Amino acid sequence: MQSRLAEVEAALDGHVHSRAAFVTEAARHLMEAGGKRFRPLLVLLAAETGDRADSADVITAACVVELTHLASLYHDDVMDEADLRRGADSANSRWDNLVAILTGDFLFSKSSELTADLGRDAVRIQAQTFTRLVEGQIMETVKPGDDEDPLDHYLDVVAGKTGSLIATSARYGARFGGATPEVEEALTAYGEIVGSAFQLSDDILDIASESRESGKTPGTDLREGVPTLPVLMARAAGRPGDARLIELLDSDLTDDQRHAEALDLLRKHPAMDEARRYVVARAAEAKARLEVLPAGAVRTALESFADIVATRST
Ligand code: FPP
Ligand code: MG
Repeated sequence: MQSRLAEVEAALDGHVHSRAAFVTEAARHLMEAGGKRFRPLLVLLAAETGDRADSADVITAACVVELTHLASLYHDDVMDEADLRRGADSANSRWDNLVAILTGDFLFSKSSELTADLGRDAVRIQAQTFTRLVEGQIMETVKPGDDEDPLDHYLDVVAGKTGSLIATSARYGARFGGATPEVEEALTAYGEIVGSAFQLSDDILDIASESRESGKTPGTDLREGVPTLPVLMARAAGRPGDARLIELLDSDLTDDQRHAEALDLLRKHPAMDEARRYVVARAAEAKARLEVLPAGAVRTALESFADIVATRST
């Protein structure tokens, strides 16, 4: 996997190139800042379930999903007014919103160009994934309807903004690695659940971890008023001692002092562990989808991948 990932890295470096030097610099900025390369790794792992795991299309597919993801981060940091990403200045903070948005567009167009090399069906899948990404991101800014459960609304957002691209990573891996249609469908379902679990553990880390671990500013969701899993669970718990926390959550948390107090109360709240247990249960659900695969190293690796997502600390 490591040597295949190195191939992906070299290919990505070549794809992120523009005839305008400044565009190359802006586009390379976050790619070089690091990142877990979680989606390309899933493409490579899923490809191992087929008989063409070493095909060039698998590397191309890995680049497609990472470039799409990278593009979305440039846009996301504008929406979140985030200063830090992958331990580096976000593009909007280093340059400005205009540069960040256009660089995101550039990366997405590069990703689309590459997808065309994978054929018509891959283009359709990529376009449908993009639709879900954008819809999920927009729905996050819209409050749930009066008759809608806030947790259900949120899980729907998460499935769109993160589950969709991770599901496609697994689908592309299986498809271009030569897996059977049955395995491709099972891995896509697995990817969708693992992807949602990945976002939910990201939400927990947004509250629990320090900047030096995550490379992001803690409490960003809270500051932006995005009610993520721990907040929704704390609200639903309705504990009598939570009056102050709820008062803070209902208020404007762009104020530094109120934000620090809310973050502190949440970190100590039992909803944090409840949220962690929920994510572990989702990982178990994802692993159950792998039953179509024969027992062996590939299935074990995909199982571990789901476990790591559920218990990650960075
Ligand atoms: C991170 O959310 C954001 C996403 C996973 C998806 C963002 C999607 C878009 C901005 C739509 C546009 C997409 C493209 C391809 C141009 P987060 O803020 O919860 O996570 P974070 O903690 O990493 O910031
Ligand atoms: Mg963000």
